[in-house]
Amino acid sequence: VTGTDTGVGKTVVSAALMRRYRGSAPRYWKPIQTGIEQDDDSAEVARLSGCEPSSVLSEGVRLPRPVSPHLAARIAGVTIAVGALERIAAAHPTGGPWIVEGAGGVLVPLNDRELIIDLMGRLGLPTVVAARSGLGTINHTLLTLEALTRRSIPVAGVVMVGAPDAENRRAIEAYGQVSVVGELPRLAPLDPASLAAWADTALDVRGQLSECFA
Ligand SMILES: Nc1ncnc2c1ncn2[C@@H]1O[C@H](COP(=O)(O)OP(=O)(O)O)[C@@H](O)[C@H]1O
Ligand SMILES: [Mg+2]
Repeated sequence: VTGTDTGVGKTVVSAALMRRYRGSAPRYWKPIQTGIEQDDDSAEVARLSGCEPSSVLSEGVRLPRPVSPHLAARIAGVTIAVGALERIAAAHPTGGPWIVEGAGGVLVPLNDRELIIDLMGRLGLPTVVAARSGLGTINHTLLTLEALTRRSIPVAGVVMVGAPDAENRRAIEAYGQVSVVGELPRLAPLDPASLAAWADTALDVRGQLSECFA
């Protein structure tokens, strides 16, 4: 699960996917978490999805400063390496599907050389793009899709977050040659019950992601 930006709803979409496909016993992984003292996406997914705590992998890079991974790592005096993260993934026995949440958008730097899209390419998972629903989303989403396509990373679908906007949805599907598999409105309150109600009735209604969770 990637996004067009930070704060677009990747964590909430990940939790919704955990809920929607709970029958496939998916596991959630956040390989790189910055700002860990205020943002713990793993804990938030466990809370919102209602999944077993054991379905959330704890390994990965955890850094205190809420800044880009390359900078958070530099400040902490560590280096993030795609190879090391790939080895964490490889060390887990295969079995259920994985939902891996990125950090920020696709071209976020991890170190002097590598971007998070390099990790995505190495993990080889189909991508779900979380995008805002409102003004500006067409450009941000098409840019994100173009970067993914250029690296031959498959796109399974887009989830639009915010007040549904039929014209923006149509534009993303037409110009991006992609399916919008969900329109997640602002939920108030956002809690396990409201997210489950949406995920069970409105996320991937046509089952376009089901082969990702087979
Ligand atoms: N559908 C929604 N309804 C209500 N609040 C939402 C919704 N989607 C996201 N949020 C809130 O917006 C903020 C950013 O969402 P989050 O999923 O953490 O984004 P990201 O993982 O892309 O940084 C969080 O505070 C989250 O609770
Ligand atoms: Mg997040």
